Amino acid sequence: DPRAPIQIDPLRTVAKELKFLTKNIQQLLGSGHPTLDTVAKYYTQSEGKYVRPMLVLLMSRATALTPRVARQSGFQRSESINRPISPSGILGDANPSAPAYAPLSSTSPDEAYTSEDSDILPSQRRLAEITELIHTASLLHDDVIDHSLARRAAPSANVAFGNKMAVLAGDFLLGRASVALARLRDPEVTELLATVIANLVEGEFMQLKNTAQDEKNPVWTEETVSYYLQKTYLKSASLISKSCRAAALLGQSAPEVVEAAYAYGKNLGLAFQLVDDMLDYTISGEELGKPAGADLELGLATAPLLFAWRDYPELGELVGRKFSEPGDVQRAREIVLRSRGLEQTRVLAQDYVDKAIQAISGFPASDARDGLIEMCTKVMKRRK
Ligand code: FPP
Ligand code: MG
Ligand code: MG
Repeated sequence: DPRAPIQIDPLRTVAKELKFLTKNIQQLLGSGHPTLDTVAKYYTQSEGKYVRPMLVLLMSRATALTPRVARQSGFQRSESINRPISPSGILGDANPSAPAYAPLSSTSPDEAYTSEDSDILPSQRRLAEITELIHTASLLHDDVIDHSLARRAAPSANVAFGNKMAVLAGDFLLGRASVALARLRDPEVTELLATVIANLVEGEFMQLKNTAQDEKNPVWTEETVSYYLQKTYLKSASLISKSCRAAALLGQSAPEVVEAAYAYGKNLGLAFQLVDDMLDYTISGEELGKPAGADLELGLATAPLLFAWRDYPELGELVGRKFSEPGDVQRAREIVLRSRGLEQTRVLAQDYVDKAIQAISGFPASDARDGLIEMCTKVMKRRK
Protein backbone atom coordinates (compact mmCIF):
# COMPACT_ATOMS: atom_id res chain seq x y z
CA ASP A 1 0.00 0.00 0.00
CA PRO A 2 1.74 3.18 -1.19
CA ARG A 3 -0.24 5.30 1.30
CA ALA A 4 0.96 3.32 4.31
CA PRO A 5 3.49 5.19 6.45
CA ILE A 6 7.06 4.08 5.83
CA GLN A 7 8.11 1.82 8.67
CA ILE A 8 11.57 2.66 9.95
CA ASP A 9 13.24 -0.08 11.96
CA PRO A 10 15.23 1.80 14.61
CA LEU A 11 17.74 -1.04 14.68
CA ARG A 12 18.65 -0.12 11.13
CA THR A 13 20.41 2.90 12.59
CA VAL A 14 23.31 0.64 13.52
CA ALA A 15 22.95 -2.06 10.85
CA LYS A 16 25.92 -0.68 8.93
CA GLU A 17 28.22 -0.79 11.95
CA LEU A 18 27.19 -4.36 12.68
CA LYS A 19 28.31 -5.41 9.21
CA PHE A 20 31.90 -4.47 10.07
CA LEU A 21 31.76 -5.97 13.51
CA THR A 22 32.34 -9.61 12.58
CA LYS A 23 35.20 -8.72 10.28
CA ASN A 24 36.88 -6.62 12.96
CA ILE A 25 36.37 -9.31 15.59
CA GLN A 26 37.99 -11.88 13.32
CA GLN A 27 40.93 -9.52 12.90
CA LEU A 28 41.26 -9.26 16.67
CA LEU A 29 41.31 -13.07 16.87
CA GLY A 30 44.03 -13.89 14.37
CA SER A 31 46.52 -16.42 15.66
CA GLY A 32 49.67 -17.77 14.06
CA HIS A 33 48.62 -21.21 15.19
CA PRO A 34 46.17 -22.49 12.57
CA THR A 35 44.11 -24.71 14.89
CA LEU A 36 43.80 -22.02 17.58
CA ASP A 37 42.84 -19.59 14.84
CA THR A 38 40.03 -21.92 13.74
CA VAL A 39 38.69 -22.67 17.22
CA ALA A 40 38.88 -19.03 18.34
CA LYS A 41 36.92 -17.84 15.32
CA TYR A 42 34.42 -20.72 15.38
CA TYR A 43 31.52 -18.95 17.14
CA THR A 44 32.14 -15.73 15.20
CA GLN A 45 31.18 -17.59 12.03
CA SER A 46 27.71 -18.57 13.19
CA GLU A 47 24.84 -16.10 13.32
CA GLY A 48 24.81 -14.64 16.79
CA LYS A 49 22.19 -12.15 17.90
CA TYR A 50 24.82 -9.45 18.59
CA VAL A 51 22.66 -8.08 21.39
CA ARG A 52 25.56 -6.60 23.36
CA PRO A 53 27.37 -4.81 20.52
CA MET A 54 24.04 -3.54 19.22
CA LEU A 55 23.28 -2.04 22.64
CA VAL A 56 26.72 -0.41 22.84
CA LEU A 57 26.34 1.12 19.38
CA LEU A 58 22.82 2.36 20.05
CA MET A 59 23.81 3.73 23.46
CA SER A 60 26.81 5.49 21.92
CA ARG A 61 24.61 7.13 19.35
CA ALA A 62 21.81 7.98 21.80
CA THR A 63 24.21 9.56 24.31
CA ALA A 64 26.04 11.53 21.61
CA LEU A 65 23.19 14.05 21.84
CA THR A 66 23.34 14.46 25.64
CA PRO A 67 25.43 16.87 27.77
CA ARG A 68 29.20 16.25 27.84
CA VAL A 69 31.93 16.70 30.39
CA ALA A 70 35.67 16.78 29.83
CA ARG A 71 36.82 13.53 31.43
CA GLN A 72 40.36 12.93 30.31
CA SER A 73 42.59 13.86 27.47
CA GLY A 74 42.20 10.66 25.49
CA PHE A 75 45.96 10.95 25.08
CA GLN A 76 47.25 8.54 22.43
CA ARG A 77 43.93 6.77 22.40
CA SER A 78 43.11 7.40 18.78
CA GLU A 79 46.44 6.09 17.56
CA SER A 80 46.34 2.95 19.62
CA ILE A 81 42.78 1.70 19.02
CA ASN A 82 43.10 0.91 15.37
CA ARG A 83 46.49 -0.72 15.23
CA PRO A 84 45.73 -4.23 13.92
CA ILE A 85 46.76 -6.98 16.31
CA SER A 86 49.13 -9.15 14.37
CA PRO A 87 49.01 -12.91 14.92
CA SER A 88 51.64 -13.64 17.55
CA GLY A 89 54.72 -15.39 16.20
CA ILE A 90 54.20 -18.78 17.79
CA LEU A 91 57.94 -19.26 18.28
CA GLY A 92 58.25 -15.87 19.96
CA ASP A 93 57.93 -12.42 18.49
CA ALA A 94 59.66 -12.37 15.15
CA ASN A 95 61.54 -9.21 16.03
CA PRO A 96 61.81 -8.74 19.77
CA SER A 97 62.84 -5.11 19.49
CA ALA A 98 59.74 -4.24 17.49
CA PRO A 99 56.57 -3.31 19.39
CA ALA A 100 54.74 -6.51 20.27
CA TYR A 101 51.70 -5.44 18.34
CA ALA A 102 53.15 -3.50 15.43
CA PRO A 103 50.78 -2.80 12.56
CA LEU A 104 50.69 -5.53 9.95
CA SER A 105 49.68 -3.11 7.27
CA SER A 106 48.22 0.34 7.04
CA THR A 107 44.63 -0.89 6.72
CA SER A 108 42.63 0.42 9.57
CA PRO A 109 39.50 -1.51 10.61
CA ASP A 110 37.65 1.80 10.64
CA GLU A 111 38.57 2.80 7.11
CA ALA A 112 35.16 1.87 5.82
CA TYR A 113 33.37 4.36 8.04
CA THR A 114 32.53 7.78 6.75
CA SER A 115 32.05 11.09 8.51
CA GLU A 116 28.28 10.54 8.67
CA ASP A 117 28.97 7.83 11.25
CA SER A 118 31.12 10.13 13.35
CA ASP A 119 28.65 10.30 16.21
CA ILE A 120 29.89 6.83 17.11
CA LEU A 121 33.53 7.11 18.15
CA PRO A 122 36.14 4.53 17.07
CA SER A 123 36.62 3.68 20.75
CA GLN A 124 32.89 2.97 21.11
CA ARG A 125 32.90 0.68 18.07
CA ARG A 126 35.86 -1.17 19.51
CA LEU A 127 34.01 -1.45 22.81
CA ALA A 128 31.12 -3.08 20.94
CA GLU A 129 33.56 -5.66 19.58
CA ILE A 130 35.11 -6.23 23.01
CA THR A 131 31.69 -6.97 24.55
CA GLU A 132 31.06 -9.63 21.90
CA LEU A 133 34.52 -11.15 22.52
CA ILE A 134 33.90 -11.41 26.26
CA HIS A 135 30.42 -12.82 25.67
CA THR A 136 31.73 -15.39 23.18
CA ALA A 137 34.54 -16.39 25.57
CA SER A 138 31.94 -17.01 28.27
CA LEU A 139 29.92 -19.18 25.84
CA LEU A 140 32.99 -21.28 25.01
CA HIS A 141 33.54 -21.93 28.72
CA ASP A 142 29.84 -22.28 29.45
CA ASP A 143 29.38 -24.99 26.85
CA VAL A 144 32.18 -27.02 28.44
CA ILE A 145 30.66 -26.60 31.93
CA ASP A 146 27.15 -27.44 30.66
CA HIS A 147 28.27 -30.34 28.42
CA SER A 148 26.39 -28.55 25.69
CA LEU A 149 25.86 -30.29 22.35
CA ALA A 150 24.64 -27.44 20.18
CA ARG A 151 24.89 -23.68 19.97
CA ARG A 152 23.44 -21.43 17.29
CA ALA A 153 22.07 -24.40 15.38
CA ALA A 154 25.51 -26.04 15.02
CA PRO A 155 27.64 -28.40 17.13
CA SER A 156 29.04 -26.46 20.09
CA ALA A 157 32.80 -25.86 20.18
CA ASN A 158 33.38 -28.46 22.89
CA VAL A 159 31.78 -31.07 20.62
CA ALA A 160 33.52 -29.87 17.45
CA PHE A 161 37.02 -29.50 18.97
CA GLY A 162 36.92 -31.04 22.46
CA ASN A 163 36.92 -29.47 25.93
CA LYS A 164 40.60 -28.60 26.10
CA MET A 165 40.63 -26.56 22.94
CA ALA A 166 37.29 -24.91 23.74
CA VAL A 167 38.58 -23.74 27.16
CA LEU A 168 41.85 -22.50 25.73
CA ALA A 169 40.10 -20.69 22.90
CA GLY A 170 37.90 -18.94 25.48
CA ASP A 171 41.02 -17.84 27.36
CA PHE A 172 42.54 -16.61 24.11
CA LEU A 173 39.47 -14.49 23.41
CA LEU A 174 39.74 -12.95 26.88
CA GLY A 175 43.42 -12.22 26.22
CA ARG A 176 42.69 -10.48 22.95
CA ALA A 177 39.74 -8.63 24.49
CA SER A 178 42.15 -7.38 27.17
CA VAL A 179 44.63 -6.15 24.56
CA ALA A 180 41.91 -4.27 22.70
CA LEU A 181 40.64 -2.88 26.00
CA ALA A 182 44.10 -1.67 27.04
CA ARG A 183 44.37 0.12 23.73
CA LEU A 184 41.36 2.24 24.54
CA ARG A 185 43.67 3.99 27.04
CA ASP A 186 40.80 4.53 29.42
CA PRO A 187 41.46 3.14 32.91
CA GLU A 188 37.86 3.50 34.09
CA VAL A 189 36.49 1.59 31.11
CA THR A 190 39.22 -1.05 31.49
CA GLU A 191 38.26 -1.50 35.13
CA LEU A 192 34.57 -1.85 34.24
CA LEU A 193 35.12 -4.57 31.66
CA ALA A 194 37.69 -6.39 33.82
CA THR A 195 35.08 -6.41 36.58
CA VAL A 196 32.60 -7.95 34.12
CA ILE A 197 34.94 -10.89 33.56
CA ALA A 198 35.20 -11.45 37.32
CA ASN A 199 31.41 -11.06 37.65
CA LEU A 200 30.77 -13.74 35.02
CA VAL A 201 32.79 -16.20 37.05
CA GLU A 202 31.09 -15.15 40.31
CA GLY A 203 27.65 -15.59 38.75
CA GLU A 204 28.57 -19.00 37.41
CA PHE A 205 29.87 -20.01 40.84
CA MET A 206 26.67 -18.84 42.55
CA GLN A 207 24.79 -21.04 40.11
CA LEU A 208 27.09 -24.00 40.70
CA LYS A 209 26.95 -23.81 44.48
CA ASN A 210 23.99 -22.10 46.13
CA THR A 211 25.08 -20.66 49.47
CA ALA A 212 21.70 -19.09 50.25
CA GLN A 213 20.00 -22.35 51.16
CA ASP A 214 20.54 -25.68 52.78
CA GLU A 215 21.59 -27.47 49.62
CA LYS A 216 20.24 -30.88 50.65
CA ASN A 217 17.01 -29.71 52.22
CA PRO A 218 16.03 -26.32 50.81
CA VAL A 219 12.86 -24.42 51.68
CA TRP A 220 11.47 -21.44 49.79
CA THR A 221 12.19 -18.03 51.35
CA GLU A 222 12.34 -14.47 50.01
CA GLU A 223 16.09 -14.99 49.83
CA THR A 224 15.56 -17.73 47.24
CA VAL A 225 14.51 -15.05 44.76
CA SER A 226 17.01 -12.38 45.81
CA TYR A 227 19.89 -14.86 45.49
CA TYR A 228 18.66 -15.80 42.02
CA LEU A 229 18.47 -12.13 40.98
CA GLN A 230 21.98 -11.39 42.29
CA LYS A 231 23.29 -14.42 40.37
CA THR A 232 21.43 -13.26 37.28
CA TYR A 233 22.90 -9.79 37.53
CA LEU A 234 26.44 -11.20 37.70
CA LYS A 235 25.95 -13.81 34.99
CA SER A 236 23.99 -11.77 32.47
CA ALA A 237 23.26 -8.16 33.38
CA SER A 238 26.76 -7.16 34.46
CA LEU A 239 28.18 -7.29 30.92
CA ILE A 240 25.22 -5.43 29.43
CA SER A 241 25.01 -2.76 32.15
CA LYS A 242 28.72 -2.08 32.44
CA SER A 243 29.23 -1.94 28.68
CA CYS A 244 26.37 0.56 28.34
CA ARG A 245 28.04 2.56 31.10
CA ALA A 246 31.41 2.31 29.34
CA ALA A 247 29.88 3.51 26.06
CA ALA A 248 28.60 6.66 27.80
CA LEU A 249 31.97 7.18 29.51
CA LEU A 250 33.88 6.92 26.23
CA GLY A 251 31.51 9.52 24.80
CA GLN A 252 32.41 11.89 27.67
CA SER A 253 28.79 11.94 28.80
CA ALA A 254 27.82 13.79 31.98
CA PRO A 255 27.54 11.69 35.19
CA GLU A 256 23.72 11.56 35.18
CA VAL A 257 23.81 10.26 31.59
CA VAL A 258 26.37 7.61 32.57
CA GLU A 259 24.08 6.48 35.41
CA ALA A 260 21.06 6.39 33.09
CA ALA A 261 22.97 4.26 30.56
CA TYR A 262 23.96 1.88 33.35
CA ALA A 263 20.40 1.66 34.73
CA TYR A 264 19.08 0.93 31.26
CA GLY A 265 21.59 -1.89 30.76
CA LYS A 266 21.06 -3.38 34.19
CA ASN A 267 17.29 -3.57 33.86
CA LEU A 268 17.36 -4.79 30.28
CA GLY A 269 20.00 -7.39 31.19
CA LEU A 270 17.89 -8.78 34.02
CA ALA A 271 14.82 -8.92 31.75
CA PHE A 272 16.88 -10.61 29.03
CA GLN A 273 17.91 -13.47 31.33
CA LEU A 274 14.42 -13.87 32.84
CA VAL A 275 13.05 -14.31 29.32
CA ASP A 276 15.89 -16.73 28.56
CA ASP A 277 14.86 -18.82 31.57
CA MET A 278 11.26 -18.75 30.38
CA LEU A 279 12.11 -19.84 26.82
CA ASP A 280 13.90 -22.88 28.22
CA TYR A 281 10.45 -24.10 29.30
CA THR A 282 8.32 -22.87 26.44
CA ILE A 283 10.22 -23.14 23.16
CA SER A 284 11.36 -26.22 21.25
CA GLY A 285 15.04 -26.96 20.88
CA GLU A 286 14.71 -26.72 17.14
CA GLU A 287 13.59 -23.10 17.34
CA LEU A 288 16.12 -22.19 20.05
CA GLY A 289 19.10 -23.57 18.12
CA LYS A 290 20.18 -25.28 21.36
CA PRO A 291 18.58 -28.01 23.48
CA ALA A 292 15.39 -26.89 25.26
CA GLY A 293 14.59 -27.88 28.83
CA ALA A 294 18.32 -27.85 29.48
CA ASP A 295 18.17 -26.04 32.82
CA LEU A 296 16.34 -28.79 34.72
CA GLU A 297 18.57 -31.41 33.12
CA LEU A 298 21.55 -29.44 34.47
CA GLY A 299 19.95 -29.38 37.92
CA LEU A 300 19.22 -25.66 37.69
CA ALA A 301 16.24 -24.01 39.33
CA THR A 302 15.56 -20.78 37.42
CA ALA A 303 12.89 -18.10 37.87
CA PRO A 304 9.82 -20.02 36.59
CA LEU A 305 10.56 -22.89 38.96
CA LEU A 306 11.44 -20.63 41.89
CA PHE A 307 8.08 -18.85 41.58
CA ALA A 308 6.28 -22.20 41.22
CA TRP A 309 8.09 -23.49 44.31
CA ARG A 310 6.44 -20.85 46.52
CA ASP A 311 3.02 -22.37 45.69
CA TYR A 312 4.18 -25.99 45.38
CA PRO A 313 6.50 -26.67 48.37
CA GLU A 314 7.00 -30.27 47.20
CA LEU A 315 9.41 -28.87 44.60
CA GLY A 316 11.93 -28.31 47.44
CA GLU A 317 12.77 -32.00 47.58
CA LEU A 318 13.50 -32.06 43.84
CA VAL A 319 15.58 -28.86 44.04
CA GLY A 320 17.57 -30.44 46.90
CA ARG A 321 18.64 -33.37 44.75
CA LYS A 322 18.98 -31.26 41.62
CA PHE A 323 16.28 -33.19 39.75
CA SER A 324 18.64 -36.17 39.61
CA GLU A 325 16.26 -39.10 40.30
CA PRO A 326 14.46 -40.73 37.37
CA GLY A 327 11.24 -38.80 36.63
CA ASP A 328 12.33 -35.68 38.59
CA VAL A 329 12.84 -33.48 35.53
CA GLN A 330 9.48 -34.48 34.09
CA ARG A 331 7.66 -33.93 37.39
CA ALA A 332 9.26 -30.54 38.02
CA ARG A 333 8.45 -29.51 34.47
CA GLU A 334 4.80 -30.48 34.85
CA ILE A 335 4.46 -28.55 38.10
CA VAL A 336 6.08 -25.44 36.58
CA LEU A 337 3.80 -25.56 33.53
CA ARG A 338 0.74 -25.95 35.76
CA SER A 339 1.84 -23.15 38.12
CA ARG A 340 1.84 -19.38 37.67
CA GLY A 341 5.65 -19.45 37.54
CA LEU A 342 6.01 -18.68 33.85
CA GLU A 343 3.48 -15.85 34.01
CA GLN A 344 5.15 -14.37 37.10
CA THR A 345 8.52 -14.53 35.37
CA ARG A 346 7.09 -12.65 32.40
CA VAL A 347 5.57 -9.98 34.67
CA LEU A 348 8.90 -9.47 36.45
CA ALA A 349 10.74 -9.24 33.10
CA GLN A 350 8.19 -6.65 31.94
CA ASP A 351 8.79 -4.65 35.15
CA TYR A 352 12.50 -4.52 34.40
CA VAL A 353 11.92 -3.59 30.78
CA ASP A 354 9.67 -0.72 31.90
CA LYS A 355 12.43 0.47 34.23
CA ALA A 356 14.97 0.29 31.40
CA ILE A 357 12.78 2.47 29.18
CA GLN A 358 12.17 4.87 32.07
CA ALA A 359 15.93 5.21 32.63
CA ILE A 360 16.55 6.68 29.17
CA SER A 361 13.34 8.68 28.90
CA GLY A 362 15.29 11.88 29.61
CA PHE A 363 17.57 11.41 26.58
CA PRO A 364 16.78 13.64 23.61
CA ALA A 365 14.45 11.95 21.13
CA SER A 366 16.41 10.19 18.38
CA ASP A 367 16.36 7.09 16.18
CA ALA A 368 19.01 5.61 18.47
CA ARG A 369 16.88 6.16 21.58
CA ASP A 370 13.94 4.57 19.73
CA GLY A 371 16.30 1.69 18.90
CA LEU A 372 17.10 1.21 22.60
CA ILE A 373 13.36 1.14 23.36
CA GLU A 374 12.81 -1.28 20.46
CA MET A 375 15.45 -3.58 21.98
CA CYS A 376 13.28 -3.77 25.11
CA THR A 377 10.24 -4.77 23.06
CA LYS A 378 12.30 -7.34 21.16
CA VAL A 379 13.57 -8.90 24.38
CA MET A 380 10.00 -9.45 25.54
CA LYS A 381 8.89 -10.85 22.18
CA ARG A 382 11.91 -12.96 21.34
CA ARG A 383 11.61 -16.68 20.75
CA LYS A 384 15.34 -17.46 20.69
C1 FPP B 1 25.25 -18.78 29.37
O1 FPP B 1 24.28 -19.19 30.29
C2 FPP B 1 26.48 -18.38 30.12
C3 FPP B 1 26.76 -17.18 30.64
C4 FPP B 1 25.85 -16.05 30.47
C5 FPP B 1 28.03 -16.92 31.42
C6 FPP B 1 28.88 -18.12 31.72
C7 FPP B 1 30.08 -17.74 32.51
C8 FPP B 1 31.14 -18.53 32.72
C9 FPP B 1 31.21 -19.90 32.15
C10 FPP B 1 32.24 -18.00 33.57
C11 FPP B 1 33.61 -18.03 33.00
C12 FPP B 1 33.77 -17.41 31.66
C13 FPP B 1 34.46 -16.28 31.32
C14 FPP B 1 34.78 -16.00 29.92
C15 FPP B 1 34.90 -15.29 32.30
P1 FPP B 1 23.41 -20.51 30.13
O2 FPP B 1 24.22 -21.72 30.27
O3 FPP B 1 22.30 -20.33 31.10
O4 FPP B 1 22.81 -20.29 28.68
P2 FPP B 1 22.88 -21.19 27.36
O5 FPP B 1 21.57 -21.89 27.32
O6 FPP B 1 23.02 -20.20 26.24
O7 FPP B 1 24.02 -22.13 27.45
MG1 MG C 1 24.83 -23.19 28.89
MG1 MG D 1 25.47 -22.30 31.86
